[in-house]
Parts: sequence; C-alpha cells; structure tokens
Amino acid sequence: MALRQVRIYGDEKLKKVCRPVQMMTPRTKMLIRDMLDTMYDLNGVGLAAPQVGVLKRIVVIDIGDEHGAYVLINPEILETSGEQTGQEGCLSLPGQAGMVTRPNYVKVKALDEDMNEIVIEGEELLARAICHECDHLEGIMYVEKVEGELFEVTDEPEEDEEA
Ligand code: NI
Repeated sequence: MALRQVRIYGDEKLKKVCRPVQMMTPRTKMLIRDMLDTMYDLNGVGLAAPQVGVLKRIVVIDIGDEHGAYVLINPEILETSGEQTGQEGCLSLPGQAGMVTRPNYVKVKALDEDMNEIVIEGEELLARAICHECDHLEGIMYVEKVEGELFEVTDEPEEDEEA
C-alpha cells in the first residue's frame, strides 16, 4: 500500500487542465493503485489524479455501495438530467464543506484500467461524485460552485463525503 500526498486547495496543480491518458503503463497502473489506497485511507468517496499532483485524466470513485471502486480514465460526460442540491466536500479542502447543485443523473463514458471503453450511469451521490471528479480534471474545485459559505465539518468518517 502506497499513499500519496494530497494537494491542498490553492496548489497550482489543482488549477490545471489535465492531459488524456494515451496508453496504460506500469507507472500509470501504480498511480491508480496509489490513488485508491489514498482515497480509502482518507475515507474519501473519490480522488482525481491532479489531487496527487499528476496532471492526467484519471479519477477513482467509491461511494461505498456494492459496486466498489470505479476507475475512470479520460472520462467524458455524455448526458445529465435532473438536479440535486447537497453537501459536498473535497480531500483537498479537509474539514470543510458547502452546498452544491449538481445533476441528479449522469451518464459518463470512460476507459477502464485495461483501456476498454465503459459507460456508467449514476444517480444521486454517484452522479455528484462523477461531476466533482471530472471538474478536478478541468482544474475546477467545488468551492467555485458553492452556494453560500463554506462551513466546518466535524471529523466523522462515516458521514464524510469528501472527494
Ligand atoms: Ni475533490
């Protein structure tokens, strides 16, 4: 298990547009494993490569359902519908949260770890996580979309939805 250091809001890497992954390499495979380890270690529901300082279009998500981990490479949102407004946090801004409106349904196309195309449909938390992580790949943090003020959240891993 290898943990990577998560960049904190304000870090230049979090403001960059990430590059597509062209081919899978042992180095990229290791990055993905480390991203999963880091996300689980911090009780996050998602993590994007730029959050560990790598400007590649890779995100990992696990909302704690029976599916387990999603690895999305070069994700591309194909379709959205509906709306949800709820609390959102980010591992790059620990201890804080804010209210963000997102689509309630998202359909996303991506490549998996074997570079095979996959299509995933998500609602509610999964839709929120997909949107949040895809934003990271464009250099966008959720704080730019927060309605009202950020607020402090207590350290209760069970209820955290940090991505
Ligand atoms: Ni985040």
